[in-house]
Amino acid sequence: MRALTVLTFLFFIFKYGSGQDVYEDIINEEVYKLIRLSDVCTCSEISDMDRTHLELYVQCTEFDRIENVADLDKIEWPANPNGLKISATFDGLGLSTLGKLPPNSLVETLKFTNNIIKAYWPDPFSEVPNLKILSFSHNDLTAITPDLFTNIEGLEELDLSYNKLSDFNPIDFKQLRHLKRLNLQSNNLKRVPLDALQPMVALEDLDLSKNGIFDLLLQRNEVENLARLKRLNLNDNRIRSITKDTFPANNSLELLVLSNNIIEIIEEDAFLTCTNLRELNLAQNNITFLFTMPPALQIAMLKINTFYHWPTFPSGIKYIDLSYNRLTDLYDEEANNFDSLEVLNIGGNQIKNLQIKKKLPNLYILDISYTLISEIPRTISTQYFPNLEELHLDGNPIETVYFKNIIAVKRLYMNEMKLLRVVEDKAFSNVVGRADEAESELHCFSLSLSNCPSLWEIRPGAFDGTSLCKLDISRNNLTFLPKILTDWSEVVEGVNLQYNPWHCTCDMQWVVDELLPQTYATNNSGLLDELRCGSPRGVEGLRLVHWYNWTERAMCDQDIGSDTRHGNYMLESSTENFSSKYSTLTLILGACIIVTLLISIALSVYLIKTRKKYRVRRAAMKRKRQSATDINNGHKDQFTNLNTSKV
Ligand SMILES: *[C@@H]1O[C@H](CO)[C@@H](O)[C@H](O)[C@H]1NC(C)=O
Ligand SMILES: *[C@@H]1O[C@H](CO)[C@@H](O)[C@H](O)[C@H]1NC(C)=O
Ligand SMILES: *[C@@H]1O[C@H](CO)[C@@H](O)[C@H](O)[C@H]1NC(C)=O
Ligand SMILES: *[C@@H]1O[C@H](CO)[C@@H](O)[C@H](O)[C@H]1NC(C)=O
Ligand SMILES: *[C@@H]1O[C@H](CO)[C@@H](O)[C@H](O)[C@H]1NC(C)=O
Repeated sequence: MRALTVLTFLFFIFKYGSGQDVYEDIINEEVYKLIRLSDVCTCSEISDMDRTHLELYVQCTEFDRIENVADLDKIEWPANPNGLKISATFDGLGLSTLGKLPPNSLVETLKFTNNIIKAYWPDPFSEVPNLKILSFSHNDLTAITPDLFTNIEGLEELDLSYNKLSDFNPIDFKQLRHLKRLNLQSNNLKRVPLDALQPMVALEDLDLSKNGIFDLLLQRNEVENLARLKRLNLNDNRIRSITKDTFPANNSLELLVLSNNIIEIIEEDAFLTCTNLRELNLAQNNITFLFTMPPALQIAMLKINTFYHWPTFPSGIKYIDLSYNRLTDLYDEEANNFDSLEVLNIGGNQIKNLQIKKKLPNLYILDISYTLISEIPRTISTQYFPNLEELHLDGNPIETVYFKNIIAVKRLYMNEMKLLRVVEDKAFSNVVGRADEAESELHCFSLSLSNCPSLWEIRPGAFDGTSLCKLDISRNNLTFLPKILTDWSEVVEGVNLQYNPWHCTCDMQWVVDELLPQTYATNNSGLLDELRCGSPRGVEGLRLVHWYNWTERAMCDQDIGSDTRHGNYMLESSTENFSSKYSTLTLILGACIIVTLLISIALSVYLIKTRKKYRVRRAAMKRKRQSATDINNGHKDQFTNLNTSKV
């Protein structure tokens, strides 16, 4: 009782399908009115633009005080004179029990997501017979009973993900003959509940990922169950093997996800009945031995397994990811037809070369990163890859970059090449950009050549005859960037020079004068944050933007170390503070020495002067005493003496 009195439901009716701001409408037009739904429930109403749906979003501000919310049957659905379909969400209300909903034939969607529902009253939806979509995602259900679906035979979508369901009875879903999508992700299932799924003859989409399923068996003798199933997700389970009895004959599977299991054995003919399968994901298993690929396969995700040899793919194959396996060779060109292949990823294998004889006419992404390729393969050319757009060569033991043949790409990745020290003249001269069909003028390419710890020099002619749209040479060991490397005004998508120990002398002044303004103008100022000098000592750690907009060419000053030490060091990094403190200390020390010197000079001058005065005074006293004696002896003599001496 107490709980009920403090309980308030607020129904917000949102319109959707319009691009306008809902809140603005609410406030500006004041179109909403509060509707009293019951003693404890109120609701506000706005109908949507196309007037086909009412969307109710139920909120409860005091959900932590709710103990028993079984009284959903006491609410009244809002007045709905135009007969709009109703969609109601009871999200995050703290509901632990589900009550029976009051009659309404227009309710089409109900969501009880993010509650703690464990139990429900009998036949909770028997009075909302036209329900199509129902979700209990993120609740505490441990079991369900057939009466949960009483009278809602038209249900098409059921979401029971993130509950604690571990098993089903064969009759649990017996009403759901029209169900198309079932989500059972993140429950405690140990096997595919085949008996329970049997009534779902219309099921197309089944998600069983993140359960503990160890035994995969989808075949039954009696009926053609799951005959319509098109998409099956079994990611993250405990499946060990796939046998030729796993899949029913003549099945409709188009997408099958078996990634993140512990599959070691796939029987040779296991997928033979999967004649419609287009996408197969077996990533992150422990598959070593080859099996026959489904005949209509287009997408094969086989990464992170233990394949030593290439499987044979059907001719329609478009996408192959065999990265991080144990391959040492390339595919058998006689056995495979790769005319349709668009993406090939064989990175992370023990492959040493790329010697092919047949071209791959439709390939647009080639990833051969982290292999054992020690020089750019001769076959990297438009002759073999006429439609290549993206080439990944990262992490290979390449010492010398040189593209021997012309290759057109949009993006080239060559990061983390530990052995690369110098990029020689003409290294990239044969790499050209690939024009988009739309903008046929653009013929530059993007290069990422980052994280090569030994790379300390790029020769001025490295990009002779080609042009860049974007250049990332961050995190290398570069000290100097030749101005004539490329036409920098074309590199409008950004030049990333950060985390290199740049030698900030006159040779690099052009970076401040030309690249910095361009970087600001193209909204890439984020690429300047860690663009710092590594030397000379006096400017180590100083950011290059420090000199931006200076009237003089600051880096060309011979005495750059001392000249740049103006008052604005406080804005710079700690290293700069350190050097500035250091120099201030020197200054103070120097000043002290000078002042001491001056004082001692003044002192000695003073001393000398006072000594002189003393002597003069002593002489005068002597004379005085003398004259006193003389007076005593006789004035006249003295005067006479004086007079004579004066004359
Ligand atoms: C496969 O099923 C289709 C209908 O879905 C049917 O026409 C065909 O005969 C079946 N083939 C086999 C071999 O059962
Ligand atoms: C994968 O299979 C190999 C033998 O084929 C085995 O030695 C290894 O332990 C397996 N790894 C896992 C994670 O099961
Ligand atoms: C980076 O270059 C400096 C000389 O410029 C050299 O002393 C240092 O060893 C280089 N670092 C690496 C990782 O090669
Ligand atoms: C940079 O951003 C400003 C405003 O954010 C915009 O007006 C300008 O067109 C942008 N310039 C480029 C080259 O993207
Ligand atoms: C650099 O100078 C230009 C033009 O004088 C000015 O628009 C810009 O704000 C200045 N930038 C900085 C960071 O001082």
